[in-house]
Amino acid sequence: VIDIRKLYGQTGKFTYDPGFLSTASCSSSITYIDGDKGELLYRGYPIEQLAVNCDFMDICYLILNGDLPDSKEKLAFDDLITHHTMVNEQMHFFMRGFRRDAHPMAVLTGLVGAMSAFYHDSTDITDEHSRHVSAIRMIAKMPTLVAMAYKYSQGQPFIYPQNNLSYTGNFLRMMFATPCEDYVVNPVVERALDRIFILHADHEQNASTSTVRLCGSSGTNPFAAIAAGVACLWGPAHGGANEACLNMLEEIQAKGGMSYVGQFMEQVKDKNSGVRLMGFGHRVYKNYDPRAKLMQQTCKEVLASLGLENDPLFKLAMEVERIALEDQYFVDRKLYPNVDFYSGIVQRAIGVPTALFTAIFALARTVGWIAQWNEMISDPEYKIGRPRQLFVGSTARDVKR
Ligand code: ACO
Repeated sequence: VIDIRKLYGQTGKFTYDPGFLSTASCSSSITYIDGDKGELLYRGYPIEQLAVNCDFMDICYLILNGDLPDSKEKLAFDDLITHHTMVNEQMHFFMRGFRRDAHPMAVLTGLVGAMSAFYHDSTDITDEHSRHVSAIRMIAKMPTLVAMAYKYSQGQPFIYPQNNLSYTGNFLRMMFATPCEDYVVNPVVERALDRIFILHADHEQNASTSTVRLCGSSGTNPFAAIAAGVACLWGPAHGGANEACLNMLEEIQAKGGMSYVGQFMEQVKDKNSGVRLMGFGHRVYKNYDPRAKLMQQTCKEVLASLGLENDPLFKLAMEVERIALEDQYFVDRKLYPNVDFYSGIVQRAIGVPTALFTAIFALARTVGWIAQWNEMISDPEYKIGRPRQLFVGSTARDVKR
């Protein structure tokens, strides 16, 4: 706590807490994390039970509405989402302005930001129905936008949504089908990707969610606030970690694989090297990321089902994990694999290009962002976010010319 009376005659006290290590920015009833126990609950339900018993649409309903749907509510919700999967045709033309070699997250940030230009009839944040329509639009259209970004990067025609498929099956089809041949959704792949969506759906006040809240606190529309969240997620310390993790494994592989991994881990321990072990460590989980355990299981299932058990990158990942769990440097700092350590391997196995990993994370996190934004906006007492600063620059001085 800093007494600011000494600074420029201001009165009162404020906390100086870089990185918000111990500052709660809001109250929320959506997601609970106990970092010491490695516990994650969505609306009170343990992630381990949700991952096994629910699909992503159940999770979206739960996060938005506070409880799991019964069968009638589930059907109605599926139907609602399904009927909003198309995007305005003009968005295709908007997208054509991007370079084809642009990073998918650059394209996605632009596309989500542009949603407020195409769907301005649901940007009245004071109207509950309007907020609901925006939430449904965001969740339903995000897979279409991510798949469009992918197809565009490949120079392939966009594939329109097919509404008799599941949310995840539809996304896989929009990504991998071509107009020339039928595409059959592989149920193992569909389930694995659905689990990735479930595990990434919300994670309380992480950097991108806090960004959505801060941006939304000015009263801007939800599409603009979520575009800010997408931009924040892109960074390698956050959602970009899954891409960075796979790049790291590929680099170790290229430099000698198993025979080089020990040397690489020594580099990580040398602070001057600037090398971090991507996919390891977490601001809140100081025991184990419960999502990583579930993802590791999915990873094994997918590799076995696709006949990739001997995949050298997966073996390398296991070796990195083994060394980290035994080495005192990592043990002392409580550095465990996080969810992104395994999600990248799963996505690579199912054919998702590395550059698209973070966009898929954004797709899954959209429900969390929109629910957190709505929770904030619905509170009649919410205030614009306006952090204080600890000023360390020059005191007042005169211009001398
Ligand atoms: N590799 C090597 N050392 C690390 C790592 C890492 N990945 N993460 C933390 N450390 C070390 C730090 O050097 C520091 O050591 P010191 O005490 O000797 O100075 C100590 O562990 C604490 O590190 P902080 O940076 O203070 O931890 P913080 O909680 O701020 O960082 C973060 C969390 C950003 C996730 C960090 O662990 C990291 O950069 N990990 C790699 C990126 C990553 O995987 N991000 C995904 C997060 S999960 C998600 O977004 C879904």
